[in-house]
Amino acid sequence: MTNQRGVFLKEIRAISWVNDGLTLIDQTKLPHQEINIEIETVDQLVDAISTLAVRGAPALGAAGAWGIVVAMRQGAKENWSAEKLNAEFLRIRNARPTAVNLAWGVDKVLPVVSSGVEAVLAAANKIAAEDEAGNRAMGKLGADWIEKKVANRPIRALTHCNTGSLATTTWGTALGVIREINSRGILKHVFADETRPLLQGGRLTAWELSQDGIEHFVIADGAATSIIARGEVDVALIGADRVAANGDTANKIGSFAVALACKYAGIPFVVVAPESTVDISTPSGKEIEIEFRSEDEILSLNGQRISPKQSKGLNPAFDVTPAELISALVTEKGVYEISNGIIPGSRAVLI
Ligand code: MRU
Repeated sequence: MTNQRGVFLKEIRAISWVNDGLTLIDQTKLPHQEINIEIETVDQLVDAISTLAVRGAPALGAAGAWGIVVAMRQGAKENWSAEKLNAEFLRIRNARPTAVNLAWGVDKVLPVVSSGVEAVLAAANKIAAEDEAGNRAMGKLGADWIEKKVANRPIRALTHCNTGSLATTTWGTALGVIREINSRGILKHVFADETRPLLQGGRLTAWELSQDGIEHFVIADGAATSIIARGEVDVALIGADRVAANGDTANKIGSFAVALACKYAGIPFVVVAPESTVDISTPSGKEIEIEFRSEDEILSLNGQRISPKQSKGLNPAFDVTPAELISALVTEKGVYEISNGIIPGSRAVLI
């Protein structure tokens, strides 16, 4: 694959089933080292999910589904009881709480466990293939919507966290739309919020944009508001970890602030996420469980303590943007302009 400048684009697969095994790119090492991890045990997978070696809601969906294969194979080798196997399934399902896709991926394949490991593998492979197709569809739908709504050309886009190939099975959600806009020749540049504390924007989004030859500026999270308010951004695009039935959207901490700034500036704030991220069993954002991570991620940088010994840290990894601040939700099925929530039956808002 080449981009519009004829630059060869390496297809990035954050998570894949190759040589009959599960392989991840270790995202904790990017952008400086490109290292793969082969996952053979549930412990390795749960560790990779908890440390964010694999991360991003759709990638976690695939990790959950393929994780059941890993558990079944380990269970067969080590002669696990049915109780132990189920407990290990649950351990994978609960490795992170906010992104609904992880539990969704596990739940999707559990019904075929009784048909054997090959059937589960086939179901997991299908989830990955559908994720890729869904990403490509969202890219086009989102770019069409933005072309219609954003008068200023070329487009200056802002994004938060990482929603590209690294966060999915390949291509990306919000970053997939940005890539599509770029391939249409109407992208000026991208502002990538660095995304404290784990720097998914400064490390991962910047790495993906660099691979694509897309001009971008990494900005401190705190800079986004004033850059948007100064009129330097035409549209902000984010992914999602869970979209509640009323459209409230959990995403990486700092997303809410971007949405407020967009409202202030009168520019669209767009959420791009597959239908698997829409959790209609969660009525509103109030019911979404927010993951709180270790205070060390806040108090230290590169393993070096930066705050005084007396300081405590508080580290919510996600926030919830109220639906009223979201201009549109792009899924692989279409674009919802959220006004009445996205409960099935309110599908009239699909445009
Ligand atoms: O903690 P992370 O890196 O898993 O958080 C990821 C995000 O918040 C992404 O924006 C979200 O999962 C959407 S990925 C397409």
